Amino acid sequence: MVYNEIKQVLFDKQAISNKVAEIGAQITKDCFGQKPLVVCTLKGAATFFADLVRHIDTDVEFDFVAASSYGNGTTSSGELRVSKDLSSNPRGRVVILVEDIIDTGRTLAHLKQNLLYRGAKQVKICTFLNKPSRRVVDVDIDYCGFVIPDEFVVGYGLDYAEKYRNLDYIGVLDRNCLKDL
Ligand code: IMP
Ligand code: MG
Repeated sequence: MVYNEIKQVLFDKQAISNKVAEIGAQITKDCFGQKPLVVCTLKGAATFFADLVRHIDTDVEFDFVAASSYGNGTTSSGELRVSKDLSSNPRGRVVILVEDIIDTGRTLAHLKQNLLYRGAKQVKICTFLNKPSRRVVDVDIDYCGFVIPDEFVVGYGLDYAEKYRNLDYIGVLDRNCLKDL
């Protein structure tokens, strides 16, 4: 499928695959024997998570959380809304939060704080993309795929109003197509 509104491909299938393997190998090395709880932040990180865990070569457990500081469009409301909580207890666990993109940093900062408050031994942050130019809250990132400029990107799990998540590449959406929902 070709979309005219996607003006540039930032990372293609091969670049993504190489990077995910690299991050998985690093996590394997760092967390070997710790049985980390690898937490996918829905929905955006689902694709990255599914690829990443197959490159982690030590015992892990999965969990899923859905939280956002966003509405349906592009602007951040600044509020954290948790629509699906973890099903396991994070107490005493090494937790790896897997995120699609860190933008303002609000979602991840809140989530990390929440997990530490609930007794997690350590909370590591693994994000596929990092958009540091828009940061509002400081976040320590342990694993990062790519640093990107201040553009709105879609694909590989990332959406605009629920569209484009299924693309196998990361593309830049034309700003003229963005409207706040
Ligand atoms: P923040 O770091 O709390 O501002 O929010 C991060 C969330 O905003 C991500 O998990 C995405 O759902 C969304 N987001 C931020 N930037 C983009 C983008 O360029 N494309 C798609 N979603 C984005
Ligand atoms: Mg997200």
